[in-house]
Amino acid sequence: KLYTHYFYTDTKDWDDQDDSFVPLQVPNVKPQKLGIPEFLRPTKETKTDMYYHIISEPGETQLLPGAKTKTWGYNQSLLGKTIVFKRGKTIHLTYTNKLPILTTYHLHGLNVPGDVDGGCHTPWYPGQTKTVSFKCDQPASTCWLHAHPCPSTGEQVWKGLACLIVILDKNAEHLPIPKKYGVNDIPLILQDRKFHKDNQWHYMKDYDPDGVQGPTPMINGTLNPYFDVTAQKIRFRILNGANRREWRLHFSDDLPFTQIAGDGSFLPHPVHMTKIMITCAERDEIVVDFGQYKPGDVVKLYCDKTPIVTFRIHQMTPDNSKLPHTLVKLPNPKINNPYVHKIVMSGTDEKVEINGKKFNMQRIDSKQTIGQVEYWVVSNSNKYCSGMIHPYHMHGCQFLVVSRNGHAPYPNEHGFKDTIGVSPGETVKLKVWFTCPGVFMYHCHIIEHEDGGMMAQIKVTDPKNPNQKFHLMDMKTL
Ligand code: C2O
Ligand code: CU
Ligand code: CU
Repeated sequence: KLYTHYFYTDTKDWDDQDDSFVPLQVPNVKPQKLGIPEFLRPTKETKTDMYYHIISEPGETQLLPGAKTKTWGYNQSLLGKTIVFKRGKTIHLTYTNKLPILTTYHLHGLNVPGDVDGGCHTPWYPGQTKTVSFKCDQPASTCWLHAHPCPSTGEQVWKGLACLIVILDKNAEHLPIPKKYGVNDIPLILQDRKFHKDNQWHYMKDYDPDGVQGPTPMINGTLNPYFDVTAQKIRFRILNGANRREWRLHFSDDLPFTQIAGDGSFLPHPVHMTKIMITCAERDEIVVDFGQYKPGDVVKLYCDKTPIVTFRIHQMTPDNSKLPHTLVKLPNPKINNPYVHKIVMSGTDEKVEINGKKFNMQRIDSKQTIGQVEYWVVSNSNKYCSGMIHPYHMHGCQFLVVSRNGHAPYPNEHGFKDTIGVSPGETVKLKVWFTCPGVFMYHCHIIEHEDGGMMAQIKVTDPKNPNQKFHLMDMKTL
């Protein structure tokens, strides 16, 4: 079956219907080769452990002709290299903050203890270096690292503090899918920015409590990118790294593609489609077959009506591999605690809340115990036609989507997820369990909604250590 529509059936609540919507425009710069973040080299790797050193630093990046843009990045001036975690190994991440202000290092999508998760309770002050360690034991997937200081996550991510994490495992290694990173396994970090006359980003000037956006697509930190296609089948690891923008993606000629993975795992079965919408912080991996084209042809990837990446077809290495019908077998534990968490995301602008409250670093909003598998029922109380899609994200876990408005989830929502778009009036039912103790945030991933208080936190306790105390920061002592 080939799906030829976005699964979000109603267009009335897409961001392009909003008064403040900024449509994308092809920037007025000559086409640039798509930057592909290389793999970050471990400082050390053994059979059992991997060590990385990650430095957040200010810099300048030549994005437009003329003045360089002041940007922030990890081990470079903007964004960062891709970090590889091999499943089964213990990962040691040493972070150094060379920024003039405090930051945090959030491992978005990782099942790690609260003090490793990098939410707002674990600040790195300017000049500080500290190391976190954890065992990586979750399926192959594309996750990401980004800054998460409350309440300035939006500004720090906008400045460039985001990069990909790729988890590798045995299953991924054996699947007949494109996996030559940089050749036929290509990341696409989708972001948008507004450049002012001085070639700078001025976050506060462009501040909008419903999310900061700009007209210029920036893909892997490249403006007006092209990519030279030399392999017939290419896998794209797409991250929506924008603060607020949804990307409605489709190719020229309505070229079909196959989604193979979502946020936290492969999909159990591939899904064939011509259009895909990705809300903030979600990841989708797709495989595109360029086999119908010949050298010299050009294929474009669009968001709505705007081309955002140009693919120039060259002599291609043929690829007759067939995607298997089953990509992964995921655990699906049974609900073993009848307690149902009810989460209501309400409001827009400054009025955003979760369950009628704004985020408070000192308040625990819910509790769950490791080993317990519970339903979380999450709804968006915005009014149809005047509300927004809130991408609901949970730290510290990967969940399964049980239903959407009482019906089956969308065909591409059957893998592990950590972020799910919830439209006005919608309710999604999730099956959630945790593997590590700690205090974890859950929130809307429109980053300005998160910073504006559409966030809450859960205390996850290990039954073997039920009295474990977790240190909570507060705004005043930060
Ligand atoms: Cu991408 Cu609270 O996270
Ligand atoms: Cu997260
Ligand atoms: Cu929101």
